[in-house]
Amino acid sequence: MTLLECRNIHKTYGHGVATVPAVRGVDMQLERGETLGLVGESGCGKTTLGRVIVGLNAPTSGKVVFDGEDVSGRLHEPEFRRRVQMVFQHPQSSLNPKFRVSTTLREPAILLTSMRNEELGQQIEQTLRLVGLGIEYQTRKPKQLSGGQLQRVAIARALMSSPDLIVLDEPTSSLDQSIRSRIIALLKDIQERRQVSYLFISHDLSTVRKIAHRVAVMYLGRIVEVSETEALFNDPQHPYTQALLSAVPSIDPDDRSERIILRGETPSPTALPVGCSFQDRCELVHARCRVEAPLLQETGPARHVECFAVQ
Ligand SMILES: Nc1ncnc2c1ncn2[C@@H]1O[C@H](COP(=O)(O)OP(=O)(O)OP(=O)(O)O)[C@@H](O)[C@H]1O
Ligand SMILES: [Mg+2]
Repeated sequence: MTLLECRNIHKTYGHGVATVPAVRGVDMQLERGETLGLVGESGCGKTTLGRVIVGLNAPTSGKVVFDGEDVSGRLHEPEFRRRVQMVFQHPQSSLNPKFRVSTTLREPAILLTSMRNEELGQQIEQTLRLVGLGIEYQTRKPKQLSGGQLQRVAIARALMSSPDLIVLDEPTSSLDQSIRSRIIALLKDIQERRQVSYLFISHDLSTVRKIAHRVAVMYLGRIVEVSETEALFNDPQHPYTQALLSAVPSIDPDDRSERIILRGETPSPTALPVGCSFQDRCELVHARCRVEAPLLQETGPARHVECFAVQ
């Protein structure tokens, strides 16, 4: 069952000549209990799209449909804020350094739910246990916690209002490999218990492969390929996805595939060429790509690619 649908979302920052089109027409769906990985190089618009989905940024145009309802322009309403939460990249800067863990967890629940007193206390204890922290952590302040513990508190805060969707923006990139794996296992466990959906934003493709059911690849503000995770990793179809994945060390010892080095630089989002925005870096470019922009088309089961060469 579809929980979230983005319909032709655009987000442009700034005014007049200094505008940056950060998200340029994104269509996306997320099912209940599903994890969608969102990958792509720095600046391609992942965080912007995440912020639009949780209502921290209003889209310039397009619709966000949540649980069958058009919620565009209503994202700040408490009912919606309760159901959609975000975990930010750096827990150090997203948690108030003056607050004890109990205060950090209490705040969203008081604002967004009718829980009070005893029920609230129970919810705090239950949530702390769910993220693998004992209740003795309630009295700690952020500076008394490790990076992994801070991220667990940030996840606990997001869970306090029993959301249906959590946007996780690079939730493990500031952590060591071993702690990263534990947080991924924790997120999967929570998903199984609570049927929560995740939009998992990350640079780290091996982590995405471990957690995501499907993966969307973004390039310059558009999703250029979306597919079930293993199909994407085994057979990337968009030339940009191929290059992105070729940089990940293979888990297959017989794999001799070479890293694809893309030519040129990513164009500035403020000076995009006419036609396909990947044209100047693409080995498969042909005349049509320089005059017409491709759109996402179905190329296989649960798979869509935005490239004339593979459609
Ligand atoms: N508040 C803002 N004002 C103006 N431009 C912005 C703002 N936030 C982001 N941008 C621009 O929008 C584009 C997309 O940025 P965004 O932060 O969404 O990318 P990202 O994919 O999350 O990158 P990263 O992987 O580095 O986190 C970039 O060109 C960025 O410079
Ligand atoms: Mg970002």
